Amino acid sequence: MMSGDPVLPKDDAPVEGEAAALLRVRGLTATFEGHGHRVPALRGIDFEVGRAESVGFVGESGSGKSVTARSVLGLEPEGSTIERTGSVLFNGRELLGLSDKQMQDIRGRQVGMVFQDPMTSLNPVLTIGDQIDDMLRRHRGWSRRAARSRTVELLDLVGIREPAQRANDHPHQFSGGMRQRVLIAVAVSCEPELLIADEPTTALDVTVQAQILRLLIRLREELGMSLMLITHDFGVIAGMVDRVYVMYRGEVVESGSVDAIMHSPREDYTKALIQAVPRIELPEGT
Ligand SMILES: Nc1ncnc2c1ncn2[C@@H]1O[C@H](COP(=O)(O)OP(=O)(O)OP(=O)(O)O)[C@@H](O)[C@H]1O
Ligand SMILES: [Mg+2]
Repeated sequence: MMSGDPVLPKDDAPVEGEAAALLRVRGLTATFEGHGHRVPALRGIDFEVGRAESVGFVGESGSGKSVTARSVLGLEPEGSTIERTGSVLFNGRELLGLSDKQMQDIRGRQVGMVFQDPMTSLNPVLTIGDQIDDMLRRHRGWSRRAARSRTVELLDLVGIREPAQRANDHPHQFSGGMRQRVLIAVAVSCEPELLIADEPTTALDVTVQAQILRLLIRLREELGMSLMLITHDFGVIAGMVDRVYVMYRGEVVESGSVDAIMHSPREDYTKALIQAVPRIELPEGT
């Protein structure tokens, strides 16, 4: 647990520091539309993420975790349309209803993201150095030379050895775990205030999962970011985040500190999630 971070209670009582929450979501709904069908994916969820706070989102497959993440990022689903209502306040600014161009500017620069599959999220034809340089040049207007120097620092920060040489390699020259480190470097390159990690370790084997989780914890602390960590696995949440929201069928059914939820879950659904998974013990160091 990170002491000193804001701990927001689960009820609706006025909360000290809530006004200062980096992200404040109220009544968020998301409905997929296509082929004459309307599929509700989020049924009005409320949550907040404080500054430099790490918050977990746990729930079974299909409970709405990724739709929640994508709603904050303003990402549209491929092949269908989505209608969203409610409020997504980031730094006091309403994100719902912003144009795609406005959201593109926020994504990467203010909100970074890491997804499950590191291979499809990297461009196979570009070197990884070029891909990180591109973020810094596009979002920060840096010169090629300044960007490359920061890129090498970032690769070092995420634990890539010989970063100056490795920057010239292509994604397929890296292992799965190393590609996920590269993606994390891309995600934090512009020092976003919020990092959203959606199942960032699911595709990796258990030892590598622990290394990547430890890296995320370290970066969150070093860069002072807020973290939204999405997983179906309570073992990942324990020891990683301050608070947790439990999702079921497009709703938040329970929330509170990780300790409280792990030790005395209210909902049978939450108990089942906790019992379903072996706990991952994080080894020291990365
Ligand atoms: N492109 C889409 N078109 C229609 N419905 C979708 C689409 N994407 C997701 N859904 C629906 O939205 C709901 C929530 O999906 P979501 O991907 O957020 O779940 P999840 O909690 O991330 O699950 P998982 O753990 O499997 O990643 C599901 O019922 C799903 O069927
Ligand atoms: Mg998902």
